Amino acid sequence: MISGRTGILGVIGHPVTHSGSPAMHNAALQATGLDFVYVAFGVPPEGAAAIGVAMRALNIRGLNVTVPYKQVVMDFLDEVSPEAQAIGAVNTIDHRDGRLCGHNTDAHGVLASLREDGGLHRLPPKVVLLGAGGAARAILYALLAAPEVEHIALLNRTVSRAEDLAAALHGGSRVTVGDITDVASLNDAGLVINATSIGMEPHSGVSPLGDGAGLHDSMVVLDIVYKPLATQLLQQARAVGARTVDGLGMLVHQGARAFELWTGVVAPVHIMRRAIQPA
Ligand code: ATR
Repeated sequence: MISGRTGILGVIGHPVTHSGSPAMHNAALQATGLDFVYVAFGVPPEGAAAIGVAMRALNIRGLNVTVPYKQVVMDFLDEVSPEAQAIGAVNTIDHRDGRLCGHNTDAHGVLASLREDGGLHRLPPKVVLLGAGGAARAILYALLAAPEVEHIALLNRTVSRAEDLAAALHGGSRVTVGDITDVASLNDAGLVINATSIGMEPHSGVSPLGDGAGLHDSMVVLDIVYKPLATQLLQQARAVGARTVDGLGMLVHQGARAFELWTGVVAPVHIMRRAIQPA
């Protein structure tokens, strides 16, 4: 029951009507019996500058932040975690004791998904990461933080963007960059991650690896695209016997981490997953 004491959580973005976060978080709140409600705030561009003021005035306890506000919110936060600072984006704001603290839970999300869904308690020494946008940046940060990862091949259509990303995260000799069609590095890779938007609806028939040549059965393949869940890349990977991980796990685990930051309660991950799993 919503009462005068019910705390407010939510997601801000533009647009947010299709976000799965309200379903996921409200299911978790219900399961844990916490007195919070989670809503979607569609903030038009002219409202962006007022987000911090609104959080304080309305005593909003926590927010997830999505496109296009992950960078701009950093301007009004009292604190930004070192992780969010390095990733250059905030996806979670924790409002406590009058302070607005920015976090990024995507790096946690990808590692938790690889562990739970991919069985990778340790990452393999060689990884291929496709893409150089915001999602790739959080994942590269996570990979570089794992000491067992010796080498990352960062492949992107626009190679200069990959170069800039590798330099921004101080990848050094652990990261080499190349064109997305340069698949030689797949040979000895134990993990391939697609962090491009290739294969996402409504262009779901295509794979970032073209015909999928180079995929093999001793690798794990993660596609962060979750619409559709069975992307063309994952179908190619399955066909050669590779273990596949779809994008739902990363989505659920980044949300779970945000939930734990706000509430201090262990997130019911399976309930969150069920709430956004397509039928
Ligand atoms: P996000 O924040 O979701 O990562 P983004 O910053 O727009 O979004 O990055 C999208 C990624 O998908 C980029 O790596 C982009 O490649 P470019 O840097 O060359 O633009 C990649 N991408 C999107 N559409 C693509 C396509 N049709 N072919 C190849 N790469 C594509």
